Amino acid sequence: MRLSRYFLPVLKETPAEAQIVSHRLMLRAGMLRQEAAGIYAWLPLGFRVLRKIEQIVREEMDRAGAVELLMPTLQLADLWRESGRYEDYGAEMLRITDRHERELLYGPTNEEMITEIFRAYVRSYKALPKNLYHIQWKFRDEQRPRFGVMRGREFLMKDAYSFDLDEAGAKAAYNRMFVAYLRCFKRMGLSAIPMKAESGPIGGELSHEFIVLAQTGESGVFLDRRILDLPIPGEDVDYDGDLEPVVTDWTSRYYAATEDVHDAARFAETPEAEQVTARGIEVGQTFFFGDKYSKPMKAVVSGPDGVERPVQMGSYGVGISRLLGAIIEASHDEAGIIWPDAVAPFGVGVISLRPGDAAVDRVCESAYAALTAAGLEPLYDDTDERPGGKFAAMDLIGLPWQLIIGPRGLAEGNVELKRRASGERQSLPLDKALAAITG
Ligand SMILES: Nc1ncnc2c1ncn2[C@@H]1O[C@H](COP(=O)(O)OP(=O)(O)OP(=O)(O)O)[C@@H](O)[C@H]1O
Ligand SMILES: [Mg+2]
Repeated sequence: MRLSRYFLPVLKETPAEAQIVSHRLMLRAGMLRQEAAGIYAWLPLGFRVLRKIEQIVREEMDRAGAVELLMPTLQLADLWRESGRYEDYGAEMLRITDRHERELLYGPTNEEMITEIFRAYVRSYKALPKNLYHIQWKFRDEQRPRFGVMRGREFLMKDAYSFDLDEAGAKAAYNRMFVAYLRCFKRMGLSAIPMKAESGPIGGELSHEFIVLAQTGESGVFLDRRILDLPIPGEDVDYDGDLEPVVTDWTSRYYAATEDVHDAARFAETPEAEQVTARGIEVGQTFFFGDKYSKPMKAVVSGPDGVERPVQMGSYGVGISRLLGAIIEASHDEAGIIWPDAVAPFGVGVISLRPGDAAVDRVCESAYAALTAAGLEPLYDDTDERPGGKFAAMDLIGLPWQLIIGPRGLAEGNVELKRRASGERQSLPLDKALAAITG
């Protein structure tokens, strides 16, 4: 992408309304624009990162055997009356009436709708297990939308729903999602710790919140530092195998809990040197809730014995849009964002220090073409802005590499290569620089 043709409205001043660093940086880097409280337009740079995060989550869901579909944002109130949640959900639910006076709502989550879809088609245990997911906008009329994408009213969520004949099957489904979550967050450069949780309005018996440590997090957390070093299964993890040992390792070996369920006496058993009291951001949550929805909504399957019973369900959410904020909270410096390679909006910024200079233009164009061909998605700053402004903007938007090309370096046959995360710079010929970037 050529910057001269792109839309990157970088702000020089720090917006006064932003209280935390990720919100400030997203506004300054031209990623996001607030259209109403907790409702944002995703500007091109922010949208690219959102899509990358979404794609990682999609790949890990697919790998774990979940199947993608897409449910609508609007749902019928009557569906929620079946589960009894229509009244319970309260003021967080945005209720809408259409021209025929039919009551609708903008979905805050989809347990009811997926149960309705399931019961319409599935009657026999032979179709199980199933896990269906979608990545769709949600609306929750939060009392205090704040911190930008961290607590929006409209936000993008991945929500998966598992269906099994019995509790043992449902626990295996839960374990698959648990492992997929460990993998997802790691791929984004995050260390997200599963912590035992209360299940809130979703309901149920078994639940974990996946928490990224950050000073600005909304939840207080307590953990044994050693949990951060537990291994995470690789790409070759066998989702048909028994994942219970992995889940047991992560859930029972070391203490980790949010303040809502914290047990001070148990925490005290952790060696003092390993005790961490911190704050964290919830980026995902897993629930097993059995027949909480299938029973009232009559989603039943017949077992091998021919007897019908309510299907055993779980649900699994990831806050896709919240993750942008969480990643920035975990990875930035005074100059701006430092994107982990896997979610960076562009892989490398090519900075021309003198557009119009024939030699500089020629080398920039050839670098741009080579990087594009290598799949690195370069952003080429071909504008007339002063070099100081270009460097500041590149640091702010946080691309992993910067390739700086100017007449002085070229006179010696060199370009400059900078790694954003370490700040390390080196002068070297273009082919060596390209080799370093493409690895
Ligand atoms: N208002 C919001 N803005 C952005 N992301 C959200 C919001 N509410 C929930 N999420 C994300 O969606 C995921 C799944 O939703 P879930 O129902 O577990 O949320 P929740 O527990 O109500 O979240 P919270 O406790 O932060 O309000 C959460 O783990 C979080 O990452
Ligand atoms: Mg939650």
